Amino acid sequence: MQLLSNRLFLLSAFLIFFACRFTPPNAADSVSKQIITDHAMVVTAHPLATKVGVEILAKGGNAFDAMVGVHFALAVVYPAAGNIGGGGFMVSRHAGGAIHTLDFREMAPAAAYRDMYLDEKGEVIENLSWLGHLAAGVPGSVDGMFTAHDSLGSLPFEEIIQPAIDLAANGFSLTEKEADGLNAKMERLQKYNTTGNAFTAKEEWKPGQQIRLPDLARTLERIRDHGRDGFYAGETAKLIVEEMERGKGIMTTDDLQNYHSVWREPVRGSYRGYGVISMAPPSSGGVALMQLLKMVEPYPLKEYGFHSAKAVHLITEAERRVYADRARYLGDPDFYPVPVAALLEENYLTTRMETFEENQATPSDSVEAGLVQMAESEQTTHYSIVDSMGNAVSVTTTINGGYGSCVVVGDAGFLLNNEMDDFSSKPGVPNAYGLIGAEANAIEPGKRMLSSMTPTILEKDGKLCMVVGTPGGSTIITSVFQNIINVVDFEMGMQESVSAKRFHHQWLPDEIDYEEGALDEKTKEVLTSYGHTMDLRGGIGKVDAILVLPDGRLEGGADPRGDDEAGGF
Ligand code: DON
Repeated sequence: MQLLSNRLFLLSAFLIFFACRFTPPNAADSVSKQIITDHAMVVTAHPLATKVGVEILAKGGNAFDAMVGVHFALAVVYPAAGNIGGGGFMVSRHAGGAIHTLDFREMAPAAAYRDMYLDEKGEVIENLSWLGHLAAGVPGSVDGMFTAHDSLGSLPFEEIIQPAIDLAANGFSLTEKEADGLNAKMERLQKYNTTGNAFTAKEEWKPGQQIRLPDLARTLERIRDHGRDGFYAGETAKLIVEEMERGKGIMTTDDLQNYHSVWREPVRGSYRGYGVISMAPPSSGGVALMQLLKMVEPYPLKEYGFHSAKAVHLITEAERRVYADRARYLGDPDFYPVPVAALLEENYLTTRMETFEENQATPSDSVEAGLVQMAESEQTTHYSIVDSMGNAVSVTTTINGGYGSCVVVGDAGFLLNNEMDDFSSKPGVPNAYGLIGAEANAIEPGKRMLSSMTPTILEKDGKLCMVVGTPGGSTIITSVFQNIINVVDFEMGMQESVSAKRFHHQWLPDEIDYEEGALDEKTKEVLTSYGHTMDLRGGIGKVDAILVLPDGRLEGGADPRGDDEAGGF
């Protein structure tokens, strides 16, 4: 009986999944990607990864099983950001309300040191923390998947990693965006690799072209057969260390053996009656998101209007103050006493906004981090999952830049991250996302570099309400923030919210970045008259989110900025 109902589930899942797949693949309007399901949903950056997740849920796996399946599938079909050579954060909520937050962020190798990216004059050496072997932190993804699955999964690991192995061994076809991404990085992929591999091809990649990743398939098989040791020990570890030796990197067997994920206390707060659950340091995401929400909460955003000059001005002013705090106080809490509670205190946040003026920008050079009591190209990817029991998983994972350090581990077939660039190489010198940092985020052996990743879950009346997150470097926090206010204040549906244009301010540089069409001419004029500098830029973030509708159905929000797709049943 159980088997029969599983089969029926699977069949209907397939039908619905394929129905949604045959929407135009790169459609840029909000409606084409919108789907609503009754029971379960998976939203990821790639249709094939979404399909893997939906199939696992349909055969009775829970959200954590689907998470593992999706994570490894993305590592194959979405090499720009999906990974086993990177790290990330998971925020989850069980149907009964139990919360778990797992940190599987990369760690600095033991031989890393504070000034490792500076020349003898103390200047930052261009690209050293961004490209090549020295840019890589010790990967956390594989340990993270095992750690989460050991305590929260239900199906055997071997079963849920198999679809990824099959995709790597049998091949899959490249989407237009992925072909473009690989072509854009072709020279770098050749320059920074010490061995030939699937990614060092010299001919232009074409959309629809088949790609097979046999080395990666073998690495995934070792993970399937030997568990965590299939990556952090044995053959794969040997291949990583040999790669490091060829490329003058510093990661060692001990670094791999010593890698460990950490269960963290979540950052929790409320916004207009909604419960907010997000990631604690070493991500700055949860703290910064909660600060932003609390700073704008006293103001009637809805009355101001979506993307009105008043709303954009208020949000910008909150953002510049929050990012100033981020630069000063946020880092790995195992190495630096991050004052999380003090940064979220109501009085502190009220004081921070005391200098806010309604019709006047506060120049960033007059804004510093607040005073708190010290008690002690982008590519990343996010996926959101809700299973038919009501368990929810929000995971953001990254190798940092598109294709990470551009180093593929020889014979192991996977790209290494360039996460070391998320440390502050030198106080005050911006990283690839223009973010600056100081002591709290200085390089130390074994330390985790500060992140902006903000996997988040919202509750309403003690029930699951929304699962949300995005890539986008420094813009992650403000994109998650905008999706929350889009739904809570501006009463948008999930797909409408995800598709809505976005803007961003991060203290330094002192400018409002906005997407084409985000702000009308009049609004830009008003903002300029307040003293803001406006800067048009390409897509901001790629949000994949799920909203629980009042009748209990699930609405997916798959970002039209990418190949992202929602599926479910
Ligand atoms: O952890 C972080 O904040 C960055 N490594 C994320 C990079 C990112 O989102 C790039 N993608 N768009």
